[in-house]
Amino acid sequence: MDSSELNQGLEGVSVAETSLSRIDGEAGELLIGGLPVAELATNAAYEESVFLLFEGRLPTAAELDDFRADLARRREICDSVRAVLRRAADEEKPAMDALRMGAATANLGTGTDSSRETARRVVAVFPTIVATYWRYRQGDDPVESREDLGHAANYLYMLTGEEPSEAAVRGLETYLNTVIDHGVNASTFTARTVVSTESDLVSAATAAVGSLKGPLHGGAPGPVLDMLRDVHERGDPEGYVRAKLDAGERLMGFGHRVYRVRDPRAPVLSSAAERLYAESADEDFFETVRAFESVAVDALAEHKSDRRLETNVEYYTAALLDGVGVPQELFTATFGVSRVAGWTAHCLEQSEDNRLVRPVSRYVGETDRTWTPVTDR
Ligand code: ACO
Repeated sequence: MDSSELNQGLEGVSVAETSLSRIDGEAGELLIGGLPVAELATNAAYEESVFLLFEGRLPTAAELDDFRADLARRREICDSVRAVLRRAADEEKPAMDALRMGAATANLGTGTDSSRETARRVVAVFPTIVATYWRYRQGDDPVESREDLGHAANYLYMLTGEEPSEAAVRGLETYLNTVIDHGVNASTFTARTVVSTESDLVSAATAAVGSLKGPLHGGAPGPVLDMLRDVHERGDPEGYVRAKLDAGERLMGFGHRVYRVRDPRAPVLSSAAERLYAESADEDFFETVRAFESVAVDALAEHKSDRRLETNVEYYTAALLDGVGVPQELFTATFGVSRVAGWTAHCLEQSEDNRLVRPVSRYVGETDRTWTPVTDR
């Protein structure tokens, strides 16, 4: 009999040493590459954050130029991958399915790259995969990447075919930096588990996309936006929350496995969204978003007095990405566009000091069966 203690969700179990990010769930603090999330998110170009994770320090100006150019050169996908994305779009498969299919092809046509080169390639190609799929969904041709545009600006450019505004680029870059890494969350753990078998980074990133897709992880911001638009149009936020909770439903954008206070990424994204909405015609929508947060948190405190349920990262993600102009169907895929740097950095870290991830299970099945031939069953 297996006597090990059962921990179904691996809650509180330390499975890796990492120098990529540190979460304090009680204090509500997050360091990425040693920097407070707010400082990194609001100052860095996304490429600087990726370099920080891959190299363990910020780049010099010359290193940043080289790194930017190197990522930009790795953005292209080949015709056969475009054909798969076109088929996914024609069949109206969700964006995360298309991203999973595209991710799996990331090492086509790249030769035999080292793990570090593969990590760069995977990061570089994710926006191209999402944007190509999206163009096909809209009945448009894909837009060629522009090497003179940075990672965030080029993603928006490939989605729309138009050069994005400075404000939109800054909003998206803040988002990409904010969610780039976050400890051993479900998708990152998935990626680390895959490379722990000495498998490769493309396989790890593909598996991680599947893990990110679910509503308990990266799939929440789309439903958050539906909820917020609904509340904005109908009014009566208290009634909305009460109806949801009375029906036994969860409020998307609230609660977290690790944080017992407000997710430290929420204020970063909220400030970025506020700046963006202040310049738009949709400013009153953002007022609804702000007001609804406190109504929901109060209602959740009453509903579950034994568990602190606070705002998580996905709540303001919805408002910010909507303000940037990222289509709602692409919210989770855009999370993947950022987090892929965290996944691959974790894979490199795992490989440096690897131990096969292999937990145990508690057997609760039959133990006293004897074989019955099929003719006698
Ligand atoms: N709304 C209503 N009730 C909730 C919520 C919520 N958002 N979150 C948790 N609860 C309740 C649960 O129903 C449960 O109640 P019970 O004990 O009566 O069954 C209790 O609080 C504890 O919930 P767990 O599921 O055990 O908490 P866990 O740590 O597994 O959940 C999670 C974390 C999955 C994020 C959860 O809070 C949730 O489902 N939130 C809504 C979805 C969401 O916002 N997902 C994005 C997460 S952030 C990210 O991954 C990037």
